[in-house]
Amino acid sequence: MKKLIFAANWKLNKTPEETRSFFKNFEKSFVAIYSRIKATKAEVMFFPPASSWEATGDSIKAINDKLDSHLALSWGAQNIYVESQGAFTGENSSSVMSLLGGISGLVGHSERRTYFKETNDFLNQKILSLQKRSLLPIYCIGETLQDRESGATEKILSEQLAQGLKNVSSENLVIAYEPVWAIGTGKIASFAQVSETHAFLRKWLNEKGFTETPILYGGSVKADNASELISISDVNGFLVGGASLEPTTFATLIENSLSL
Ligand code: PGA
Repeated sequence: MKKLIFAANWKLNKTPEETRSFFKNFEKSFVAIYSRIKATKAEVMFFPPASSWEATGDSIKAINDKLDSHLALSWGAQNIYVESQGAFTGENSSSVMSLLGGISGLVGHSERRTYFKETNDFLNQKILSLQKRSLLPIYCIGETLQDRESGATEKILSEQLAQGLKNVSSENLVIAYEPVWAIGTGKIASFAQVSETHAFLRKWLNEKGFTETPILYGGSVKADNASELISISDVNGFLVGGASLEPTTFATLIENSLSL
């Protein structure tokens, strides 16, 4: 059975109150599909902004308690610093996240690379620091439209992997491939593009010993294209932005992905 992960990246959206209300509504749809989620061992994760960590932690704990499973739903940070405390104005602490129940961190989302100038070397430090604390890094990679059109996709992805994964353990790691040109644009990569790129990534990872590392796809994944994309053998789930903001839409996206 292939490993499946559905990760919601809320970006800078949802107040604590909106977060609590989201989970109240999500619970109904989630409980309805939970037996299928359990049967497929799929994981459902949320990445809220730091201001909604506590609301997310409380809401998820309440749902998990009802389902008698401490990880039916889980959550993590969109961005976490390499140090967990000290003079680092504006940064997020992994120890605070852990205290509130978070278990994971996105690393290297294209918005962090583009707007905050995070480099592969810095992202490597973030992955190592999450692994050191037994937290799950989801390392995001992806090419720009210019890279793709100039035939540089594989070169760019190889660089992001080689530099980002230096000294990284294969034990506790997920890769998310998100073509930058498909994020938030409604432009979905074609079936052939996703198949070909995931096959390339799978091969690269296998050759370096990351044989069990799941590879998620991200970029304008919606409820109506999820079932086609999940049928690609090297796609282990999705990192979802826009379509994760509304509870029934996100639950339908998961349900459609599990209906194979
Ligand atoms: P999108 O975002 O689903 O809105 O394209 C995906 C992401 O940025 O992770």
